[in-house]
Amino acid sequence: MSDQDGYAHEPFPTDGPAVVTCGLPYANGDLHIGHLRTYVGGDVYSRALESLGQQTAFVSGSDMHGTPIAVQAIEEGVDPEAFALEWHEQYAETFPKFGVEFDNYGHTHEETNRELTYEIVERLESEGYVYEKEIKVAWDPVDDQPLPDRYVEGTCPYCGADARGDECDEGCGRHLEPGEIEDPVSTISGNPAEYRDRTHKFFRVSELADYLDGFLDRLEGTSNARNQPRQWLEDGLQDWCITRDLDWGFDYPDVSGASPEEGDAPPNAGDDLVLYVWVDAPIEYVASTKQYTERVGADEYDWEEVWKDDGEIVHVIGRDIIQHHTIFWPAMLEVAEYAEPRAVMASGFMTLGGKGFSTSRDRAVWAEEYLDEGFHPDLLRYYLATNGGFQQDVDFSWEKFRDRVNNELVGTVGNFLYRSLLFAQRNFEGTPDAEVSDDVEERIERAVDEFRAGVNDYSVRAIGEASVSLARFGNEYIQRNEPWNLVGEDDERAAQVIRDCVQIAKAVAVLFEPVAPGTSQRLWEQIDEEGSVHDVTTDEALEAPPREFGPPEELYEKIDEERVEELNAKLDARVAEATEGDADEPDENDETGDGSADADPDAADEGTDPELEPVESERVSFEEFQELDLRVGEITAADPIEDADKLVQLMVDIGVETRSIVAGLKQLHDVDDLPGTRVVVVANLERAELFGRESNGMVLAAGDEADLLTTHGDAALGERVR
Ligand code: MF3
Ligand code: ZN
Repeated sequence: MSDQDGYAHEPFPTDGPAVVTCGLPYANGDLHIGHLRTYVGGDVYSRALESLGQQTAFVSGSDMHGTPIAVQAIEEGVDPEAFALEWHEQYAETFPKFGVEFDNYGHTHEETNRELTYEIVERLESEGYVYEKEIKVAWDPVDDQPLPDRYVEGTCPYCGADARGDECDEGCGRHLEPGEIEDPVSTISGNPAEYRDRTHKFFRVSELADYLDGFLDRLEGTSNARNQPRQWLEDGLQDWCITRDLDWGFDYPDVSGASPEEGDAPPNAGDDLVLYVWVDAPIEYVASTKQYTERVGADEYDWEEVWKDDGEIVHVIGRDIIQHHTIFWPAMLEVAEYAEPRAVMASGFMTLGGKGFSTSRDRAVWAEEYLDEGFHPDLLRYYLATNGGFQQDVDFSWEKFRDRVNNELVGTVGNFLYRSLLFAQRNFEGTPDAEVSDDVEERIERAVDEFRAGVNDYSVRAIGEASVSLARFGNEYIQRNEPWNLVGEDDERAAQVIRDCVQIAKAVAVLFEPVAPGTSQRLWEQIDEEGSVHDVTTDEALEAPPREFGPPEELYEKIDEERVEELNAKLDARVAEATEGDADEPDENDETGDGSADADPDAADEGTDPELEPVESERVSFEEFQELDLRVGEITAADPIEDADKLVQLMVDIGVETRSIVAGLKQLHDVDDLPGTRVVVVANLERAELFGRESNGMVLAAGDEADLLTTHGDAALGERVR
């Protein structure tokens, strides 16, 4: 890492094998392009390592266990295994369509994973790192069943946000242990839950604090993954509950006799506990690598060398699961005597119009939908890899997508390649007979250095930009040297310039392959190179291209304005239908301030004239109105969100609890005056996340000036508004 003093690790490429893993997707729903950001990032990174000559396996698999699958399967009335398998198969088909080509893509419910999981858990037991403890678990008293993790919703004890099961996914992001969630309610029956005593297994993570401290010193990757865990260590580590009352997952292994303590019979002695999903899920990284070795042979790739000796383990994940990968997982690996991760790369989230992707609201650009639109996967790969740093949150818009495609892929890369190769082919039938000039050779070497630095800085964007800036140089070079004026005048010079350009084109093919594998291969074939550009290393960038090649084709096509409008209209219509009513969630979609991506262009065009809208002709029933849970609240704190033009995070006391609500009030109100203001809150609005902040409800306001609705008598906080 450029900002670390002293390296704990040798720079890439190293002699040992590397494994790049991607966080396992829960097998429970369609993939959207927000998911793809992590997978494309991992794929780019592993391809780039290979280009540097590093022996690399790229693995992942589907996460089949846990309550995310169990709850969803119950809702659909199907068996969890069959349910998860179906999604697993779909993922296995979808990833390659985006060029995300795992060397092995397994799933956690396979035998390989079961064996390794049992081996590791038994190791934790035999090393004395597991103990039993009686804890309170949420229980549905009516249905008489335990409510682990996502079976229960309630309030985060740390930040007060609404939390789901084992994570405060829309608030502070913490992992929540069983029993921690406040005011628990069953997500299945809606019944308020009570807490009952149960005996569970705990992993003594707290005893590994010193180890983890040193581990974090050595850890490379993105800065979010290296820095955030420091805080958790300083706050003190809690032991980690590794079992659940659930009948979907791996049964807790039978370790009778292994545990020295023989106390009183615990309240649920003999009950079946399953392993917590977060135990067997990361072990699939190992299992998937092992399956790869089983397929290709240990001579070609040895999983034990990387996982048990001193291989280079790089985890690519979403930023919501940093804790699992920098605390729990390395702790398990350490006790089980496996190798430790070298790096964790945690990607930012992707939003759409400033709001989180939402499956239930159909607010997403689906992976399959993107392909159905007929776009080449490389366009999205390029956009995802280079639009903002890997760890930055990124707001997707078709405008920004178009801009990157038109300006860089078409305008820079495609333009350079096409004009150079066409000129070369017409005037020289291919590569002119000349030597590459020193300047150009140096420029290509610099691009290779930038590419390598991108890998060592864990910067997917820098990896992608190395080749684009080389193509930009190529464009300037051809423009400056005007070979079209040299032909017939100074043929030797013309040959020299074009020879340089063809070399640059070849180097672009090699260096752009990790980001744009499909189009780089086409380019490779255009200059009549043999085999797959995927298989060559960066050294090839300076090797001479074939003497002859045919006429080139354009690699990238411009996306026109109408197309963008069409795509936006489709998206807007769908989102509007699904979000009808939450007018106060503003269109915080323009991070760059370039005026793009207005979610509702018509409204913007109409200007600020307070022309009154006609009253909706469609009536709603009284029952429908009653479905809205409106409450009297009071703003207790207001925090402007730095990166957003309009958004303020409010804490609103609604009597029963204090909610975090994000509202578009920044320019319309003096933020410091907001605390103390009485407001009306839609308390049962679906939760959302904006700029990483939870928005759990909506504050009602009138008109373009966001005139806040309030009460005028002495209604108590939390009173219903009818
Ligand atoms: N399925 C988990 C999620 O989507 C990620 C599991 S990653 C692994 O949050 F490390 F456990 F493999
Ligand atoms: Zn929280």
